Amino acid sequence: MKSRVLLGATLFGLFALGPTLAADQSLGPDRMGLSPMSVFEVPTPEVFTYPNTRPGSAGTLPRGFPGAPPQVPHRIDNYLPITMQSNRCLGCHDDLEMIGEAREVGDPTPMPETHYMQAEGQMVPSGENHVCTMCHVPQADVPALTGSTF
Ligand code: HEC
Ligand code: HEC
Repeated sequence: MKSRVLLGATLFGLFALGPTLAADQSLGPDRMGLSPMSVFEVPTPEVFTYPNTRPGSAGTLPRGFPGAPPQVPHRIDNYLPITMQSNRCLGCHDDLEMIGEAREVGDPTPMPETHYMQAEGQMVPSGENHVCTMCHVPQADVPALTGSTF
C-alpha cells in the first residue's frame, strides 16, 4: 500500500512538473522571429536608398560563394517591374554570342547558358529565369537585421 502511494505521488509529481519543463524550453516572444525583438512589436527598419549607379559605371561585386547569383552592381529602378510582356534586363543581358568572349569594361555580363532553353531549334531565354530579381538584387549599405553563420 505504501509503495502505491509513493508511485502515485511520483506520477502526480511528473504530471505536475511536465508543463513547467516544457515551458522552460519554449522560446519567448522576443526569440521567435528573425528580428531581434518581440514578435508583438512592429519593426521599423532604417529607411535606405540604393546607390544611384548607372549600368556600365559600376564594375562587378564579389560573389557570396562560388555559384551564387551575382549581385546587381547598378541601379534597376528604371527597368522594373518585370512583367510577362516586358523584361528590360534582357535588353542588355540577353547576348548568347558574348558568352565566354572578351568584353570591354562597362559591357554587360551576358546571361549564362543555364538561363536559356531550346525551343524550336533556337536558344531562347528560359521562362524559369524570367523574373531576374528573384535571384539577382542590387545592394545597399544597410546593417544586417540578424546575424548569419552561413
Ligand atoms: C542598359 C543596360 C543594362 C540593363 C537594362 C540592365 N543591366 Fe545589368 N549590367 C549592365 C552592365 C553594363 C553590367 C556590368 C557591370 C557594370 O559595368 O555596370 C551589368 C551587371 C549586372 C550583373 C552582375 C553580373 C556580374 O558579372 O557580376 C547582374 C546580376 C545584372 N547586371 C542584373 C541585371 C538585372 C536583374 C537587370 C534588370 C532588372 C539588369 N541587370 C538590367 C547593364 C545593364
Ligand atoms: C533562379 C535564380 C535565377 C534567376 C531567376 C536568374 N538568375 Fe541569373 N544567375 C543565377 C545564378 C545561380 C548565376 C550564377 C551561375 C554561374 O555562375 O554559373 C547567375 C548568373 C547570372 C549572370 C552572370 C553570368 C556570368 O557569366 O558571370 C548574369 C549576367 C545573370 N545571371 C543575369 C540574369 C538575368 C538578366 C536574369 C533575368 C532574365 C536572371 N539572371 C535570372 C540565378 C538566377
